[in-house]
Amino acid sequence: MIKKIGVLTSGGDAPGMNAAISAVIRRSISKGIKPYIIFDGYKGLIENRIEEATLDFASKIIGHGGTAIGSARLPEFKDENVRKKAITTLKSHEIEALVVIGGDGSYQGAEKLTQMGINCIGIPGTIDNDIVSSDYTIGFDTALNTVVRSIDAIRDTMTSHNRCAVVEIMGNGCGDLTLYGATATGCEVISTRENKLTEDEIAEQVSLLAKQKRRSVIVAVAENIYNDVHGLAKKIENKSGYVTRATVLGHVQRGGTPSAMDRYLAINFGIFAVDRLSEGIGGVYIGICDNKFVAKDIESTLNSKPKDKYNEYKIIREINKAF
Ligand code: ADP
Ligand code: F6P
Repeated sequence: MIKKIGVLTSGGDAPGMNAAISAVIRRSISKGIKPYIIFDGYKGLIENRIEEATLDFASKIIGHGGTAIGSARLPEFKDENVRKKAITTLKSHEIEALVVIGGDGSYQGAEKLTQMGINCIGIPGTIDNDIVSSDYTIGFDTALNTVVRSIDAIRDTMTSHNRCAVVEIMGNGCGDLTLYGATATGCEVISTRENKLTEDEIAEQVSLLAKQKRRSVIVAVAENIYNDVHGLAKKIENKSGYVTRATVLGHVQRGGTPSAMDRYLAINFGIFAVDRLSEGIGGVYIGICDNKFVAKDIESTLNSKPKDKYNEYKIIREINKAF
């Protein structure tokens, strides 16, 4: 049986990461394993910023947004010599296994550390929901609720003034926050990297809605697929006649109190990870699939294709614009 486990958060933070950290600490202690926190992701590993975690810390952070142990991006971690430093640090603390909470980039680091002799398990913590083979990632539900509250608020003012709004939503290449947010709020136009409309197509669709005398129109777009959403708003305004404004939701989507569902997922992922590590299993990531907690091989996960949601887009687009 292992005696010490480390936990770190890496990449973009996500609401619910603290609940996962808390569960890793509490599950370790309940199994007689000493838990260690590593500050600021892989950066803290190579800088030897590590400390034993307490139950008091674990119980205080459970409902807080962000990550209480800090996160960072460290591109140098791709270099084997930098990772060797991390292994030396872990060995100097006699930490035999590591829980890495982050996205697919962080998993690649975890996979390489496992190959170098420290068993690692990844927990999917990202608002983007872009970890293939887990139906949901920690943080997605909270961010989605923020998106929905924001679009509802924008809808109020657009309806009052008979306007159109373009709303830009995060996701780092994955359209789920946009698709689910637009579904929950009835956005008339949806465009993501996976199912992209050209600027002209969007302007054309909005002008058809203007002809139907819609009181307001919301265009939900995923980040980084158009050069300038304010320019897109102008184009829509010129074609449709609606006064059109653009809102970039930005980092408000990454913060805030984690939802009950994110905490529930995070805590179960944390327990599941410690249980697998204590059985000597590493090189896997934890996910939820068809309502079951699963541990899957990191390498095959990184190489899997995302689910095709073409039909889901088609139907939501049809009912939301209903020409
Ligand atoms: P996320 O985990 O949210 O996808 P990033 O892609 O920024 O975020 O990755 C987080 C960190 O994981 C990087 O800053 C780097 O330290 C580490 N990482 C990413 N890719 C690799 C890789 N190929 N090999 C080793 N470490 C990596
Ligand atoms: O991965 C989470 C995320 O918020 C993405 O949705 C977004 O593209 C990116 O991180 C933003 O990163 P940064 O905070 O470094 O600007």
